[in-house]
Amino acid sequence: MFNPLAIAWHFLERQLRPLPVPDTSYAGRTVIVTGANGGLGLEAARHFARLGAARVVLACRSTERGEAAKADIEQSLTTGTTTSTPTVVEVWPLDLCSFDSVRAFCRRADAELDRLDVLLANAAMLIIDGAQMAEGYEMQVTTNVISTFLMVFMLLPLMRRTAARWNVEAAVTVVVSEAHFWTRFVQKDQPRIFECFRPGGAMQERYGTTKLLDMLMAQELAARLDAASAAGASPIVVNTANPGLCKSSLFRNLFLVGQFLLAVGTAILGRTSEQGSRALMAAVAGGRESHGKYVDSGRVDEPSAFVLSEEGKAAQKKAWGELMEILEGIEPGVTAVVTQVPS
Ligand SMILES: NC(=O)c1ccc[n+]([C@@H]2O[C@H](COP(=O)([O-])OP(=O)(O)OC[C@H]3O[C@@H](n4cnc5c(N)ncnc54)[C@H](OP(=O)(O)O)[C@@H]3O)[C@@H](O)[C@H]2O)c1
Repeated sequence: MFNPLAIAWHFLERQLRPLPVPDTSYAGRTVIVTGANGGLGLEAARHFARLGAARVVLACRSTERGEAAKADIEQSLTTGTTTSTPTVVEVWPLDLCSFDSVRAFCRRADAELDRLDVLLANAAMLIIDGAQMAEGYEMQVTTNVISTFLMVFMLLPLMRRTAARWNVEAAVTVVVSEAHFWTRFVQKDQPRIFECFRPGGAMQERYGTTKLLDMLMAQELAARLDAASAAGASPIVVNTANPGLCKSSLFRNLFLVGQFLLAVGTAILGRTSEQGSRALMAAVAGGRESHGKYVDSGRVDEPSAFVLSEEGKAAQKKAWGELMEILEGIEPGVTAVVTQVPS
């Protein structure tokens, strides 16, 4: 039953949680942060560099904005770094609206990176114009879900090699949102969920639906990676992270009234992008206890009742099957990483 007081309490309790400054060392590690030219992604990348990562790849759709972010991080590193070995910060182009761009990015990573310890899948968009399409699907679905998981799948072999060669746990964190609690996800009852995201679909709950799909797909991926691991426990931890309400550019495409209300809300309660990035860092550092879990404002937490329900689990399997077909259509063989047990 819809209970506004319970919703408000749930939000406030998490929003007011203190988030300590991250202190896990990333010395020697290689990290990719998508959407790292601004907002939470930039601040997370800055933390990784400060915490000694050997290489931080800023995956950005605008190289110019990415270079500005790199200069900004390097400037702050002159004062705040925790190790003497300098971090190499690089800007690589990645546009999640284009499958070609995702494929080129991942192939480059596979060829040029000798290891990949962390993939922070942070880039996402919030739009309300359903006429904006990318690769045949509404642009937000392509960006936040299909391309995000295409990238995750294409990078998993490199992460698996990293874990085996250096005997480390690698981490994939997909950034989600409280909004996953508020969507009715009506598409789950249609014969093909992703076909509902072709032109002409209703947009009211679309952002929340993409984030719910991210939650379900990450949960399923975590379980499948364990099943496909010879040891029964994947050396790659997969989790989701909700940073809470934060000041950033995310809401720039909303109607003016929505922008105004969110500006008021974030002015009163919102975290800064840096504070929000601490929630992402906490999830990345969450380790095995966070595998397949939802990390809300820095702690492993319960996702929405729908995610935990039998109905949610059935929707998860259905969406997973469809997404695997879509990914195989884009990059044949890409899903084998979760179906083959390594020898
Ligand atoms: N802010 C909040 O209150 C809040 C709350 C819950 C969850 N989140 C999540 O936190 C994450 C970071 O968002 P933010 O608040 O930092 O928003 P933001 O400032 O708008 O940052 C989003 C980043 O994603 C990039 N991006 C968007 N579409 C892309 C595409 N097609 N290809 C490549 N990059 C793309 C953006 O690049 P451009 O600069 O080129 O657009 C930007 O770098 C998102 O996953 C968001 O859903 C935010």
